[in-house]
Amino acid sequence: MRLRSTAVHINTVALTGATGYIASHVAVALAAQGHRLVGIDNLSNSSQIVVDRVAELIDGPMPFVKLDVRDTVGLTEVLAEHEVDAVIHLAGLKAVGESVTDSLRYHDNNVGGTISLLRAMQSASVPALVFSSSATVYRPDQPSPLTESSRIGPGNPYGRTKSIAEQIIDDVAASSSLRAVHLRYFNPVGAHESGRIGEDPIGPPNNLMPFTMQVAAGQREMLQIFGDDYNTPDGTCIRDYIHVSDLADGHVAALGAFGSIETSEAINLGTGRGSSVLDVLRSAEKAADRPIPHQIVGRRDGDSAVSFADPSHALERLGWQATRSLDDACQDHWRWQHQNPTGYRTSP
Ligand code: WQD
Repeated sequence: MRLRSTAVHINTVALTGATGYIASHVAVALAAQGHRLVGIDNLSNSSQIVVDRVAELIDGPMPFVKLDVRDTVGLTEVLAEHEVDAVIHLAGLKAVGESVTDSLRYHDNNVGGTISLLRAMQSASVPALVFSSSATVYRPDQPSPLTESSRIGPGNPYGRTKSIAEQIIDDVAASSSLRAVHLRYFNPVGAHESGRIGEDPIGPPNNLMPFTMQVAAGQREMLQIFGDDYNTPDGTCIRDYIHVSDLADGHVAALGAFGSIETSEAINLGTGRGSSVLDVLRSAEKAADRPIPHQIVGRRDGDSAVSFADPSHALERLGWQATRSLDDACQDHWRWQHQNPTGYRTSP
């Protein structure tokens, strides 16, 4: 592979979607490594309180701008004004079911937002982009462990917006000086060990971990387990649950890789370990120290039986690997849930 020799020095990093679940943890991890930050978010699905919580954890303010990434002019100004060296693009909608019923909104936000960002980065001469992608870009029938060369073919509009955005970024990187890393996340779970930041879904959670924790906290009656007749050891689906703080560390590591990236590159961020729904339930029960009411119901449309990462490329290219266990994630998620029963909304 032809490598560009220019060293890339990254000081200031802009985070889009800065007040979201993953970005808030990325902010803390970046600040711990001495990076300067600017957070950008339209607050459509998150709270400004996150900015204060992050400031508390990083012992100093995080500059924050309320802005929609589709506002190209405003975004260009922010990038130029803060002399941004790299962008980590985490702004986007992420509910799979909603993406089926309102696909245009998903393409507008996720694809349109990425195009706007690329334009702004070109205008402000920002050379490096880390893109928040997803393991849902892989074809659902691909065998695990999934490698970066597993076949692409998302099974829903949400996944397609991620895959299309990756391709647009690839085209721009191939024809300009932009360098980009697509981080393909598996299933992010857990919370910062302080219990001060975490996932704050509005309405009933779609994902297993937040739903399970809300049942444990008595906020919901019953966890429904979607199918126990899959071809897996206990019959429930297997996923690769990665602690959000490990995921955040992967972003910091990605910033260190730009010196050796020719144009753009995709990297899986997963643990390489598969856990079943029942494994998650047991680990959550241990963390919350109580039984969690549950029942087995029918399969959920679109679920594949097994999905977990081959994380070896991340180790090779970024020197990164996950260090936290599913039990660690459940303990941290439970601490967050317990200390912030209503998320960021009314908790102190
Ligand atoms: C995990 C397992 C369910 C809820 C989705 C997105 C993916 C990514 C992560 C962002 C499955 C089972 C779930 C419940 C259950 N997001 N389950 N009862 O489907 O692997 O991935 O979130 O990029 O794009 O597709 O995660 O947490 O929804 O489900 O039994 O109430 O838990 O069937 O086996 P999934 P999930």
